[in-house]
Amino acid sequence: MGHDITVLGLESSCDDTAAAVLRGRKILSSVVADQTALHAAYGGVVPEIAARAHAEKLDLCIESALSDAGVTLSNIDAIAVTAGPGLIGGVLSGVMMAKGLSAATGKPLIGVNHLAGHALTPRLSDGLGYPYLILLVSGGHCQFLRVDGPTTFSRLGSTIDDAPGEAFDKTARLLGLPQPGGPSVQHHACDGDDARFAFPRPLLDRPGCDLSFSGLKTALLRQRDQLVADQGGLHTQDVNDLCAGFQAAIRDVLVEKSRRALASSNGLTGFAVAGGVAANTQLRTALETLSSSRGLPFVAPPLALCTDNAAMIAFAGAEKFAVDGADDLTLTARPRWPLDQSAPAALGSGKKGAKA
Ligand code: KG4
Ligand code: ZN
Repeated sequence: MGHDITVLGLESSCDDTAAAVLRGRKILSSVVADQTALHAAYGGVVPEIAARAHAEKLDLCIESALSDAGVTLSNIDAIAVTAGPGLIGGVLSGVMMAKGLSAATGKPLIGVNHLAGHALTPRLSDGLGYPYLILLVSGGHCQFLRVDGPTTFSRLGSTIDDAPGEAFDKTARLLGLPQPGGPSVQHHACDGDDARFAFPRPLLDRPGCDLSFSGLKTALLRQRDQLVADQGGLHTQDVNDLCAGFQAAIRDVLVEKSRRALASSNGLTGFAVAGGVAANTQLRTALETLSSSRGLPFVAPPLALCTDNAAMIAFAGAEKFAVDGADDLTLTARPRWPLDQSAPAALGSGKKGAKA
């Protein structure tokens, strides 16, 4: 029953203002206003600028989402909003807007964990059944989650420092390649020799599924500086080979840790990957091979659903509503909100602030 309700979803926890209308698994509309241009001059997301832009753009995004979907507020059954984790000013903008809408219309209010939105996306895109394993891998997240239900998650491991997308972006910056770094590095890696430079495979010597990526970036910096000292600069082939070596190291670490996470979980219906870095062709192919070697379906939702959006928030809201019901107007915005309350806090935070 819960799946056939029509939900308005709102997302404003980082640098994308988003609104979407969902009916069951059907996305009637999904509007995303990104703030990249506003933050470009600062080399990162400025929380105050982000919060102000969310407050200015949310109502416009909601209007567009409703009109794209061909509905009005009276056709909406519930309002789902990201209530954390994320940059507090942005989360507050969304929560206040959702509370206002809920109070004015009498529609139920559902506070959604942003990471639950990502983690439940394989159910929205492919109808994957519980329980499944998901690797969230983006510029801000890197963790393995076993998903047993809309509010039941176990974290099997996470990065203790950088997120992989962040490492791709820093690598591109160190090599003078355009941002976002992932696609640039992937492009150059195509013509590179991944065996020319030795890159570490961090934490593979230790048991468990935790990951670390900051050492890779330091290794790249050292190789780059050595080449510059030896030859006075970098040739195109050097850049290609560095990119190939770096990308292969990320792939190897993520594949081995995925293998361990899969081996430690019983009864899975599938293995899913989500987040911007899941767009990496080499990584995606390697994870798919791993998954099929274990006889498990592999799900990689379309990129528009992997990056921040409000359709995933509406979906996670509907799933949560079906088991837990609605929140009330005391719903608060939470800067930190681990999905797995029993797991110790992750040491790393990622470029967009602490997430887990
Ligand atoms: O999920 P996302 O859009 O945003 C958040 O971080 O929340 O992920 C963006 C990250 C960036 O760091 C970008 O460099 C990386 O995903 N990325 C890639 C590729 N495409 C995007 N990394 C590796 N290979 C790619 N093809
Ligand atoms: Zn996100």
